Amino acid sequence: MGDRTGGDDRKQQQLDHRRVSPEGARLTTDQGLRVDDTDNSLSAGERGPSLMEDFHLREKITHFDHERIPERVVHARGSGAYGHFRLHESLAEYTTAEFLTDTSLTTPVFVRFSTVAGSRGSADTVRDVRGFATKFYTRQGNFDLVGNNMPVFFIQDGIKFPDFVHAVKPEPASEIPQASSAHDTLWDFVQLQPETMHMMMWLMSDRALPRSYAMMEGFGVHTFRLVNAQGRATFVKFHWKPRLGTHSLAWDETQKIAGKNPDFNRADLWERIESGVFPEYEFGVQLVPEEDEHAFDFDLLDPTKIIPEEQVPVRRVGTLVLDRNPDNFFAETEQVAFHLGNVVPGIDFTNDPLLQARLFSYLDTQLIRLGGPNFPQLPVNRPVAPVRNHHRDGYHQTDLHQGRASYHKNSLSGGCPAVGGEGSYTHYQERVDGHKIRKRSESFADHYSQATLFWNSMSDWEKEHIVGAFRFELGKCDHRHIREGVVEQLDRVDHDLAVQVAEGVGVEPPRKAATANHGRTSPALSQANA
Ligand code: HEM
Repeated sequence: MGDRTGGDDRKQQQLDHRRVSPEGARLTTDQGLRVDDTDNSLSAGERGPSLMEDFHLREKITHFDHERIPERVVHARGSGAYGHFRLHESLAEYTTAEFLTDTSLTTPVFVRFSTVAGSRGSADTVRDVRGFATKFYTRQGNFDLVGNNMPVFFIQDGIKFPDFVHAVKPEPASEIPQASSAHDTLWDFVQLQPETMHMMMWLMSDRALPRSYAMMEGFGVHTFRLVNAQGRATFVKFHWKPRLGTHSLAWDETQKIAGKNPDFNRADLWERIESGVFPEYEFGVQLVPEEDEHAFDFDLLDPTKIIPEEQVPVRRVGTLVLDRNPDNFFAETEQVAFHLGNVVPGIDFTNDPLLQARLFSYLDTQLIRLGGPNFPQLPVNRPVAPVRNHHRDGYHQTDLHQGRASYHKNSLSGGCPAVGGEGSYTHYQERVDGHKIRKRSESFADHYSQATLFWNSMSDWEKEHIVGAFRFELGKCDHRHIREGVVEQLDRVDHDLAVQVAEGVGVEPPRKAATANHGRTSPALSQANA
């Protein structure tokens, strides 16, 4: 394989060592023993019972019995590809992350696109958010940008994530329906949690129906921090902009395609790469100086808000090209493990409460999904940066650690990995002060202004599609009080929108526009809490 990563093929070399080819090989057991017959069990006589001693039969069946692992709790349906990232403009003024400062470097990457709600075998073209997760194999360690194709999220605090996902997933008794946005529980959650409104506008728009993964934007969603050599921090939002532009399917098309070719987006990605028409994306950043933290009419820590590009333009500083399909879907696309906590020096977190909960969730879920603590050793997860530490043992340990001592500090093992020094990760020294409370800041309380901004930015036909989507999806909700509750919420976004939706879902249209206080209290909420 040529040097497709344009100068840095360390990841390819690492993977080359792990490739297992059947070409010219003889069939063996897992122990390397050549097999004489794999079609007939060992039996007592031609028509007699199978014998316990048939180790080949037992091994073959046992391995098969254990082939499945749990699917991801969310984003179970995915498609992946390798590629490379090149930086065109150094961000050295803002960060020490080498892959964002050295324009001579090429960084290998693995990307996994996904739907959120459906199971592993579900259709690609459903109305849903799409995951856009990127693992950068940098020389300073893996950096994972675990984003979506929409710039905001449904909830502000990760403690609501289990509630939200339970509302989105099929109902517990019947496992009906599979479609993500068409049922009572989701709409019930939405009417009772007004913070979902901005994201629901995106979800009911054509953004939820991407034509191709090569025609889809990506967003890191949260505000992160870049930290430079002087220790100065800058807030940052990460963006992916597809070279082909952003294009969607029409709703009718998606339904037909889901029936005729449920693997539509997966096949499209695979075929583009096989035929050399590589998907390309520009990497962009929105940068906000620390001193401007409170300069906006929303909170930078609130993941239900965008920073409007008119206010802070996206600086396009690099390019991502996806140019190689995986060798093996299970080994790579299924076993890849992304985690927001995988950062490199010069990139740090903020106190966004959704981000903070995610920092716990990914590693935790992967411990069960991938069977113990050694999944970072899997070929797709293994960094190209050297890994040296005192972690030992555990299921599926594949490294042969040398030396007598596995503790810090030690004087026995012929060398103890040094701690600290240049290039080591240091956390940004943010000053933190406060009482321990369960209460969200008032600066998170406006749930409607940006939903209105989104609606107003739509053309007439885009608005038509959004109204059509609300009517179709909400119209399937059996409970009148939920349909009314959602319409009431929509009235706070835009009166015309609410009236049009109401007319399509069989509820009384709201009489006049809701108060313009942007609903710091929600009627549905107070009703539910009464
Ligand atoms: C998986 C994005 C919020 C928990 C994923 C994946 C993406 C993603 C792209 C798929 C990764 C892959 O392809 O393997 C996001 C974004 C969020 C968000 C952009 C909000 C801005 C959350 C929250 C939680 C969470 C709040 C929990 C508190 C998970 C879990 C998985 C997952 C458990 C499965 C991971 C695995 O099994 O490997 N998320 N997510 N996510 N997410 Fe999130």
